[in-house]
Amino acid sequence: MPVFDKAQATELIRKRRSIYPTQFAEQPVDQSIIEEMLENANWAPTHRITEPWRFVVFSGEGLKKLAAFQSELYKEKSTAAGNFDESKFEKLATKPLKASHIIAIGMARDPKESVPEVEELSSVAMAVQNMYLTATAHNIGCYWGSGGVTYMEEAKPFFGLGERDQLLGFLYVGNLKSDKWPEGRRKPITDKVTWVND
Ligand SMILES: Cc1cc2nc3c(=O)[nH]c(=O)nc-3n(C[C@H](O)[C@H](O)[C@H](O)COP(=O)(O)O)c2cc1C
Repeated sequence: MPVFDKAQATELIRKRRSIYPTQFAEQPVDQSIIEEMLENANWAPTHRITEPWRFVVFSGEGLKKLAAFQSELYKEKSTAAGNFDESKFEKLATKPLKASHIIAIGMARDPKESVPEVEELSSVAMAVQNMYLTATAHNIGCYWGSGGVTYMEEAKPFFGLGERDQLLGFLYVGNLKSDKWPEGRRKPITDKVTWVND
Protein backbone atom coordinates (compact mmCIF):
# COMPACT_ATOMS: atom_id res chain seq x y z
CA MET A 1 0.00 0.00 0.00
CA PRO A 2 1.50 3.41 -0.89
CA VAL A 3 2.03 5.85 1.97
CA PHE A 4 1.20 9.51 1.41
CA ASP A 5 1.73 12.64 3.41
CA LYS A 6 -1.94 13.53 3.73
CA ALA A 7 -1.40 17.05 5.02
CA GLN A 8 0.92 17.80 2.09
CA ALA A 9 -1.59 16.42 -0.41
CA THR A 10 -4.33 18.68 1.00
CA GLU A 11 -1.99 21.66 1.11
CA LEU A 12 -1.00 21.12 -2.53
CA ILE A 13 -4.61 20.96 -3.70
CA ARG A 14 -5.71 24.01 -1.74
CA LYS A 15 -2.68 26.13 -2.57
CA ARG A 16 -2.94 25.47 -6.32
CA ARG A 17 -3.64 28.79 -8.02
CA SER A 18 -3.99 30.22 -11.47
CA ILE A 19 -1.02 32.48 -12.06
CA TYR A 20 -1.00 34.71 -15.12
CA PRO A 21 1.65 35.69 -17.69
CA THR A 22 1.99 39.24 -16.26
CA GLN A 23 3.25 37.52 -13.09
CA PHE A 24 5.85 35.44 -14.95
CA ALA A 25 9.62 35.99 -14.80
CA GLU A 26 11.75 35.82 -17.96
CA GLN A 27 13.74 32.81 -16.76
CA PRO A 28 12.32 29.74 -18.57
CA VAL A 29 10.98 26.74 -16.68
CA ASP A 30 13.22 23.67 -16.68
CA GLN A 31 12.32 21.23 -19.42
CA SER A 32 12.33 18.41 -16.84
CA ILE A 33 9.45 20.07 -14.97
CA ILE A 34 7.39 20.43 -18.15
CA GLU A 35 8.05 16.76 -18.89
CA GLU A 36 6.96 15.80 -15.37
CA MET A 37 3.75 17.85 -15.81
CA LEU A 38 3.01 16.02 -19.08
CA GLU A 39 3.81 12.61 -17.64
CA ASN A 40 1.51 13.30 -14.69
CA ALA A 41 -1.22 14.48 -17.07
CA ASN A 42 -1.03 11.06 -18.67
CA TRP A 43 -2.17 9.47 -15.39
CA ALA A 44 -5.58 11.14 -15.33
CA PRO A 45 -8.60 8.86 -15.06
CA THR A 46 -10.06 7.90 -18.43
CA HIS A 47 -13.20 5.87 -19.08
CA ARG A 48 -12.36 2.80 -21.18
CA ILE A 49 -8.75 4.00 -21.17
CA THR A 50 -9.31 6.15 -24.26
CA GLU A 51 -6.64 8.62 -23.02
CA PRO A 52 -8.18 11.53 -24.97
CA TRP A 53 -5.73 14.27 -23.92
CA ARG A 54 -3.50 15.70 -26.64
CA PHE A 55 -0.94 18.40 -26.01
CA VAL A 56 1.21 20.62 -28.21
CA VAL A 57 3.99 22.29 -26.25
CA PHE A 58 5.28 25.67 -27.46
CA SER A 59 8.51 27.22 -26.16
CA GLY A 60 11.30 29.46 -27.45
CA GLU A 61 10.75 30.26 -31.13
CA GLY A 62 7.67 28.05 -31.00
CA LEU A 63 5.90 30.70 -28.92
CA LYS A 64 6.37 33.15 -31.80
CA LYS A 65 4.78 30.65 -34.19
CA LEU A 66 1.78 30.31 -31.88
CA ALA A 67 1.52 34.10 -31.47
CA ALA A 68 1.64 34.64 -35.25
CA PHE A 69 -0.84 31.87 -35.94
CA GLN A 70 -3.47 32.98 -33.45
CA SER A 71 -3.22 36.70 -34.18
CA GLU A 72 -3.44 36.13 -37.95
CA LEU A 73 -6.39 33.76 -37.63
CA TYR A 74 -8.17 36.28 -35.42
CA LYS A 75 -7.43 39.08 -37.92
CA GLU A 76 -8.70 37.04 -40.86
CA LYS A 77 -11.95 36.03 -39.16
CA SER A 78 -12.72 39.34 -37.47
CA THR A 79 -11.96 41.34 -40.63
CA ALA A 80 -14.37 39.13 -42.58
CA ALA A 81 -16.97 39.62 -39.84
CA GLY A 82 -16.32 43.39 -39.76
CA ASN A 83 -15.39 43.55 -36.06
CA PHE A 84 -11.57 43.60 -36.09
CA ASP A 85 -10.15 45.08 -32.88
CA GLU A 86 -6.51 46.18 -33.04
CA SER A 87 -5.94 45.79 -29.27
CA LYS A 88 -7.23 42.19 -29.34
CA PHE A 89 -4.91 41.46 -32.25
CA GLU A 90 -1.93 42.95 -30.35
CA LYS A 91 -2.76 40.88 -27.28
CA LEU A 92 -2.88 37.66 -29.30
CA ALA A 93 0.40 38.58 -31.01
CA THR A 94 2.30 39.36 -27.81
CA LYS A 95 0.82 37.51 -24.81
CA PRO A 96 2.36 34.10 -25.68
CA LEU A 97 5.83 35.65 -25.57
CA LYS A 98 5.43 36.31 -21.83
CA ALA A 99 5.22 32.58 -21.06
CA SER A 100 8.04 30.10 -20.72
CA HIS A 101 5.95 27.31 -22.23
CA ILE A 102 2.39 27.15 -23.54
CA ILE A 103 0.70 23.78 -23.64
CA ALA A 104 -2.21 23.67 -26.08
CA ILE A 105 -4.91 21.43 -24.59
CA GLY A 106 -6.76 19.14 -26.97
CA MET A 107 -9.34 16.37 -26.72
CA ALA A 108 -9.05 13.67 -29.39
CA ARG A 109 -12.37 11.93 -29.95
CA ASP A 110 -12.08 8.19 -29.72
CA PRO A 111 -12.75 6.82 -33.27
CA LYS A 112 -15.18 4.26 -31.84
CA GLU A 113 -16.90 6.95 -29.75
CA SER A 114 -16.95 4.36 -27.02
CA VAL A 115 -17.74 6.88 -24.28
CA PRO A 116 -19.85 10.06 -24.31
CA GLU A 117 -17.98 13.19 -25.35
CA VAL A 118 -18.56 14.83 -21.96
CA GLU A 119 -16.54 12.05 -20.35
CA GLU A 120 -13.62 12.66 -22.68
CA LEU A 121 -13.73 16.39 -21.93
CA SER A 122 -13.85 15.62 -18.21
CA SER A 123 -10.88 13.33 -18.56
CA VAL A 124 -8.82 16.02 -20.30
CA ALA A 125 -9.74 18.51 -17.55
CA MET A 126 -8.45 16.02 -14.98
CA ALA A 127 -5.20 15.72 -16.94
CA VAL A 128 -4.90 19.52 -16.83
CA GLN A 129 -5.47 19.48 -13.06
CA ASN A 130 -2.57 17.03 -12.75
CA MET A 131 -0.38 19.54 -14.60
CA TYR A 132 -1.61 22.41 -12.41
CA LEU A 133 -0.79 20.44 -9.24
CA THR A 134 2.62 19.38 -10.52
CA ALA A 135 3.41 23.02 -11.36
CA THR A 136 2.28 24.04 -7.86
CA ALA A 137 4.55 21.44 -6.26
CA HIS A 138 7.48 23.08 -8.08
CA ASN A 139 6.30 26.66 -7.27
CA ILE A 140 5.79 27.17 -11.00
CA GLY A 141 2.94 29.39 -12.19
CA CYS A 142 0.37 28.29 -14.70
CA TYR A 143 -3.16 29.01 -15.81
CA TRP A 144 -5.69 27.54 -18.20
CA GLY A 145 -6.79 30.19 -20.70
CA SER A 146 -9.67 29.52 -23.03
CA GLY A 147 -9.74 32.80 -24.94
CA GLY A 148 -8.43 33.75 -28.38
CA VAL A 149 -8.74 31.03 -31.00
CA THR A 150 -9.76 28.27 -28.56
CA TYR A 151 -13.18 27.63 -30.02
CA MET A 152 -12.44 28.47 -33.66
CA GLU A 153 -12.94 25.46 -35.93
CA GLU A 154 -10.19 26.74 -38.25
CA ALA A 155 -7.63 26.53 -35.43
CA LYS A 156 -7.87 22.77 -34.98
CA PRO A 157 -5.46 21.59 -37.73
CA PHE A 158 -2.66 23.81 -36.38
CA PHE A 159 -2.82 21.78 -33.18
CA GLY A 160 -3.06 18.43 -34.94
CA LEU A 161 -6.75 18.10 -34.12
CA GLY A 162 -9.43 16.72 -36.43
CA GLU A 163 -12.99 17.89 -36.94
CA ARG A 164 -14.45 15.75 -34.16
CA ASP A 165 -11.70 16.68 -31.74
CA GLN A 166 -11.76 19.82 -29.63
CA LEU A 167 -9.29 22.49 -28.68
CA LEU A 168 -9.95 23.39 -25.02
CA GLY A 169 -7.46 26.17 -24.50
CA PHE A 170 -3.92 26.78 -23.40
CA LEU A 171 -1.93 26.16 -20.25
CA TYR A 172 0.44 29.12 -19.87
CA VAL A 173 3.46 28.16 -17.76
CA GLY A 174 6.18 30.34 -16.25
CA ASN A 175 8.43 30.98 -13.29
CA LEU A 176 7.14 33.58 -10.86
CA LYS A 177 8.52 37.12 -10.73
CA SER A 178 7.80 37.49 -7.02
CA ASP A 179 8.01 35.19 -3.99
CA LYS A 180 4.41 35.95 -3.15
CA TRP A 181 2.05 33.05 -3.91
CA PRO A 182 -1.50 34.30 -4.60
CA GLU A 183 -4.40 33.64 -2.22
CA GLY A 184 -7.48 31.84 -3.50
CA ARG A 185 -11.10 32.34 -2.63
CA ARG A 186 -14.02 29.92 -2.57
CA LYS A 187 -17.53 29.94 -1.13
CA PRO A 188 -18.04 27.20 1.47
CA ILE A 189 -18.34 23.62 0.24
CA THR A 190 -21.44 23.27 2.45
CA ASP A 191 -23.27 25.51 -0.09
CA LYS A 192 -22.64 22.91 -2.80
CA VAL A 193 -23.15 19.57 -1.10
CA THR A 194 -26.31 17.71 -0.17
CA TRP A 195 -25.93 14.78 2.21
CA VAL A 196 -28.43 11.97 2.07
CA ASN A 197 -27.97 9.81 5.13
CA ASP A 198 -31.29 8.11 5.66
C1 LIG B 1 -11.79 25.41 -18.31
C2 LIG B 1 -11.17 26.65 -17.75
C3 LIG B 1 -11.01 27.75 -18.56
C4 LIG B 1 -10.43 28.94 -18.07
N1 LIG B 1 -10.29 30.01 -18.89
C5 LIG B 1 -9.78 31.17 -18.40
C6 LIG B 1 -9.62 32.30 -19.25
O1 LIG B 1 -9.92 32.26 -20.44
N2 LIG B 1 -9.14 33.42 -18.71
C7 LIG B 1 -8.77 33.50 -17.37
O2 LIG B 1 -8.34 34.56 -16.92
N3 LIG B 1 -8.85 32.42 -16.55
C8 LIG B 1 -9.35 31.26 -17.04
N4 LIG B 1 -9.43 30.15 -16.23
C9 LIG B 1 -8.84 30.20 -14.86
C10 LIG B 1 -9.87 30.66 -13.85
O3 LIG B 1 -10.06 32.05 -14.00
C11 LIG B 1 -9.37 30.33 -12.43
O4 LIG B 1 -9.28 28.94 -12.27
C12 LIG B 1 -10.30 30.93 -11.38
O5 LIG B 1 -10.18 32.32 -11.33
C13 LIG B 1 -10.02 30.37 -9.98
O6 LIG B 1 -8.71 30.68 -9.59
P1 LIG B 1 -7.69 29.55 -9.12
O7 LIG B 1 -7.46 28.66 -10.31
O8 LIG B 1 -6.46 30.30 -8.70
O9 LIG B 1 -8.31 28.80 -7.99
C14 LIG B 1 -10.01 28.99 -16.71
C15 LIG B 1 -10.15 27.85 -15.89
C16 LIG B 1 -10.73 26.70 -16.40
C17 LIG B 1 -10.88 25.50 -15.50
